[in-house]
Amino acid sequence: MALGTILSDVSGYLFPTPGRTDRMKQRETRKVGVTHMRLPLALVGDEVLVPCVDGVSRRYVGLDAAASTGVLPSVMDRVLGFLPSYSSVHRGAGYKSQISTTQYEDARDAALRFAGREGRDDVAIICRNTTEAINHLVYRLGLRPSDVVVTTVIEHHANLLPWSRVATCRYVECLSDGTFTLSDVESALDASPKPRLLTLSAASNITGWMPPLGEIIEAAHLRGIPVVVDGAQLAPHRPLPHNADFVAWSGHKMYAPFGAGVLIGPRSAFSDGDPFLAGGGAVDLVDLNEVVWTAPPEREEAGSPNVVGAVALHAAIDALEEIGWPEIIEHDRRLARALRDGLAATPGVRVLGPDLASDTLPVAAFTVEGVPFALVAARLSAEFGIGVRHGCFCAHPYLIRLLGLSADEVAQFQTNVRHGDRRSMPGAVRASCGINSRDEDVQSLLDALTQIASGREAPCAYHQDPVSGDYFPDLANGWLVDTGSRGGSCSPG
Ligand code: ALA
Repeated sequence: MALGTILSDVSGYLFPTPGRTDRMKQRETRKVGVTHMRLPLALVGDEVLVPCVDGVSRRYVGLDAAASTGVLPSVMDRVLGFLPSYSSVHRGAGYKSQISTTQYEDARDAALRFAGREGRDDVAIICRNTTEAINHLVYRLGLRPSDVVVTTVIEHHANLLPWSRVATCRYVECLSDGTFTLSDVESALDASPKPRLLTLSAASNITGWMPPLGEIIEAAHLRGIPVVVDGAQLAPHRPLPHNADFVAWSGHKMYAPFGAGVLIGPRSAFSDGDPFLAGGGAVDLVDLNEVVWTAPPEREEAGSPNVVGAVALHAAIDALEEIGWPEIIEHDRRLARALRDGLAATPGVRVLGPDLASDTLPVAAFTVEGVPFALVAARLSAEFGIGVRHGCFCAHPYLIRLLGLSADEVAQFQTNVRHGDRRSMPGAVRASCGINSRDEDVQSLLDALTQIASGREAPCAYHQDPVSGDYFPDLANGWLVDTGSRGGSCSPG
């Protein structure tokens, strides 16, 4: 039996011929039923039941897409179909190496297409995630402490810390509703000294608010200032901005786990100088005293690349393109309205961020009067099977502003945390939806919160772990182990 037939038996796919990926893609599309997808679309594991403290198992209601989405069935199928062909990329003459290399390069092309970069001399660098992409870019830009970078206080840490540790950051402040205007950004761009670049998120991971990105990019370009866009939150919900100079996003927030993300920018930005990572694959020739770096994007991808992650990312891009932005946006808007209006109408619940009429992603952060945020999250999980995120969402400066905390309060929290005590950490609860979210998921959350906020007694006691600040049900029935001491907490950001 031919190798291809054997592999076909294993995976359910025909063994692809190198260089004939279009035909292979058509086969996969048919195979996984990607065509005519309508939302909501079930993800792998959506029907999983989880145990609750009353002994009943309930369908897991995943409302934490802003942190990590579930997996698209077409992504899982594409990865399983590829695994029998898995081999080294760009470093083997073998048939499987050719397949793997083709698949990897196809994923790169798909990323450029997804970001609207066709026809430009840009490169897509495949990395782990947005955090790595931005750290990579910061290194490559060779910033010095005297360089000014304009950014905003709404950023998550991935788009704050890499810049602030090497350059001087000038921050665009937000109002108490968590928004700023084009003219706030213009003022920061016009202040002296002239900034070297502007970097900002396309959408907040806490409030789902989207700054007026198109106008902001234009304003920066008018002033000759390049723009970096952190597309981590936007990528699964709306088209990425075509006119940003650099854009970064993550596969794990768009239904494609396996650890691939993307950094896109002009080829010229990566053509000279040392790459972020040094090692094999990034070079043309090495002698003990001399290295000739190869051309980008390979120059930026030392070490064996993550081909499985790239295949997954490519499949997710294909699926989102197949569904189409109009349907995704309509689905998101319906859920965003149901979520934010429903939360605001629940007695005792306070929604953080812009007013309800704002067009946001289906993401909402909130607090419940009289109930610690970490206890709300623990009760949603343990009593109702609902998975949300809580804490500071890796965006501490923004959350501090949204909660209206004073400098003295923040100083006290810093003292406590330095002593390993997170019991009084500030925070909120966040619910976020994806293409799989159903109206009844949002309703389940609202019903559960109505009970929690009304003061209904919990069916069991909870204890708080001082190290993580998280709450756990006081049960000896093996519901779940206490993960606080093993880093299970959402509170650190
Ligand atoms: N930025 C990610 C989140 O919002 C980690 O959960």
